Parts: sequence; structure tokens; C-alpha cells
Amino acid sequence: MFCKNFVSAAILAAVLIAPLSASADASGNPKAGKAVYENSCQICHGATGRGDGAAAAALNPKPMNFGDKVKMAKVTEAVMIKAITEGGAAVGASPNMAPFKETLSAQQIQDVAAYIRKTFVH
Ligand code: HEC
Repeated sequence: MFCKNFVSAAILAAVLIAPLSASADASGNPKAGKAVYENSCQICHGATGRGDGAAAAALNPKPMNFGDKVKMAKVTEAVMIKAITEGGAAVGASPNMAPFKETLSAQQIQDVAAYIRKTFVH
């Protein structure tokens, strides 16, 4: 009886813990995010994250300057993930900030967000 309960408790614990560790894995890896940034974001946000990429000249407003402390103070982690996933319009920013949910995985979005924070936001 004890043994059977112990086994079900262990299974239950595994089921409960699994999603927690999965979400821990989903936290961003800035190294992996570098390639995502270069492929998908740099054209607008620029090599140094200042919003001065090749495509930025034609945009108004300009892409976010990740080095702008005042502006970035309002871009919490949740807002950043939402902006990348659903696009600028979903967070009250320009619709020229495209949604990436069709082109990037949730993990890649976490990774690129971590890369931006680590590299450009100071
Ligand atoms: C076509 C050009 C373009 C591309 C490509 C692009 N962005 Fe943007 N991004 C913008 C523009 C424009 C804004 C909005 C600036 C504003 O509204 O002031 C913006 C804003 C943002 C913001 C701030 C959102 C907020 O809350 O104000 C984040 C974060 C961001 N981009 C991340 C990314 C990431 C990560 C990628 C690559 C996966 C990317 N962007 C690709 C143009 C682009």
C-alpha cells in the first residue's frame, strides 16, 4: 500500500515538475540568440542595436534603439517577448515591427530577447 502510494506520488511529482523544468529550459540563451538577431532583426535594428540597420532609413518611427535606456525601461521582459511574437502593434509600438510567431520558435524568441538584453541594453 505504502509502496503503491509512493509510486503514484512519484509519478505525480514528475508530471508536476516536468512543465517547470521545461519552462526553465525555455529561458533565453544569448549565444543562440545572436544568430537569430543577425538573421531576423539586424536589417532594421542594426549591428549595434541602435535602430539604424539598412532598412531603417525608410521607417518612421525608427526601429527601437535598444541602447536607449529611457525607452527600454518600459520594455519589460513580457513586453519584449510579446512584441517579437505578435508584432509592434500588439504592444502599442509601430506595426512595422513585424510579428515573428510564424518564423521563429518560442525558444528562438527567448534566445534573441536574452541576446538583446545582454548585448545592447545597459
Ligand atoms: C522591418 C524592420 C524590423 C525588423 C526586421 C525587426 N524590427 Fe523590431 N522594431 C521595428 C520598429 C519599426 C519598431 C517600433 C519602434 C517604435 O514604435 O517606436 C520595433 C520595435 C521593437 C521592440 C520594442 C517594442 C516596444 O515595446 O516598444 C523590440 C523589443 C523589437 N523591435 C525586437 C525585434 C527583434 C527581436 C527582431 C528580430 C526577431 C526585430 N525587432 C525585427 C522594426 C523592425
